[in-house]
Amino acid sequence: MKGLILSGGSGRRLRPLTHTSAKQLVPIANKPILHYVVEDLVTAGVVDIGIVVGDTGDEVRASVGDGSRWGASVTYVDQEAPLGLAHAVLVAGEFLGDDPFVMYLGDNMFEDSLERVVDGFVESGEAARLLLARVADPSAFGVAELDDAGNIVDLIEKPADPPSDLALVGVYLFGPAIHEAVRSIEPSARGELEITDAIQCLLADGATVDHRVLDGWWIDTGKKDPLLACNRLVLARLAGTGVVVDDEAEVGDSTLVGPVVVGAGARIVDSTVGPSVAVGEGCRIEGSTVVDSVLMDGSAVLGCRRVVASVLGREAKVQRTRSADGPADDAAVDLSVLLGDHSVVDLAGGVDDARGWDG
Ligand code: G1P
Repeated sequence: MKGLILSGGSGRRLRPLTHTSAKQLVPIANKPILHYVVEDLVTAGVVDIGIVVGDTGDEVRASVGDGSRWGASVTYVDQEAPLGLAHAVLVAGEFLGDDPFVMYLGDNMFEDSLERVVDGFVESGEAARLLLARVADPSAFGVAELDDAGNIVDLIEKPADPPSDLALVGVYLFGPAIHEAVRSIEPSARGELEITDAIQCLLADGATVDHRVLDGWWIDTGKKDPLLACNRLVLARLAGTGVVVDDEAEVGDSTLVGPVVVGAGARIVDSTVGPSVAVGEGCRIEGSTVVDSVLMDGSAVLGCRRVVASVLGREAKVQRTRSADGPADDAAVDLSVLLGDHSVVDLAGGVDDARGWDG
């Protein structure tokens, strides 16, 4: 069985971070989401992996390489524009051949075992096996309608009036019949070749389209709040309520409240960090409190009383600038930001000079 990871797309819902970086490379607990996806496939025994890339292809190639690090073999497939999930299958046709494959969206993560999902598919003769998850807001996803016997009868992309709470998770198993289906559909109203339309063709042809309902959490990380939710869950899985601090990080006069991970070369002084904070390599946190946040490599929080639910891009900085007015009484104010790479936020006033960080 082959794997097909989709790692193109524009990451519109994670701008400005995605102006300079692929959404699939945003770190969760200090590791790019895409690396978890590769690991998940390899654990399920899928090692012949194609990765569909777009504008951010060079960065994805540099991050994943040839896959040998995971014992996998990675082939890159260029997609000239993000024209839909079914379009990605179309452009990967040569790589896929007639082999059954798992298509995995590179910004999705789930708790359940992929091995369990893949089990028996190759022998089953199914044209597709879909993963579904119960969600509170089905209209944000593709939604499946099931009949009384539990068979899928309809799939609707982002329905205003969802027929069920069963969303299509971004992981699909396909046999070779999908290739004919993706060739036969037309672009949708949003201008994309929708995989839901291609699967509808399989259903119309009387092919077997089975499904599994996922256990545990599933997150499409393509927006800030789900990204932070995923960071919380993975940090807890990794560190429990503990802290994982790289040997080459420096922590002084600070309290770390787990789960927290701290990368190499990071410096945390006179601060409280956590719970649920991933501090990337070379970050600085000084004279601040940071809760429930992702700090990408080289970013800094300096002299801020409370930064919460924030994502800081590489080298981004939030700092309280020096002022003659003395400390401001902002103890009750939480600062929550999503900052692109190299952004700077200055909060005026309120510096306790005794802290003396070097902003
Ligand atoms: C895509 C699919 C949708 C699915 C979702 C899962 O949506 O079209 O059916 O539920 O992924 O993440 P998109 O993220 O392209 O809006």
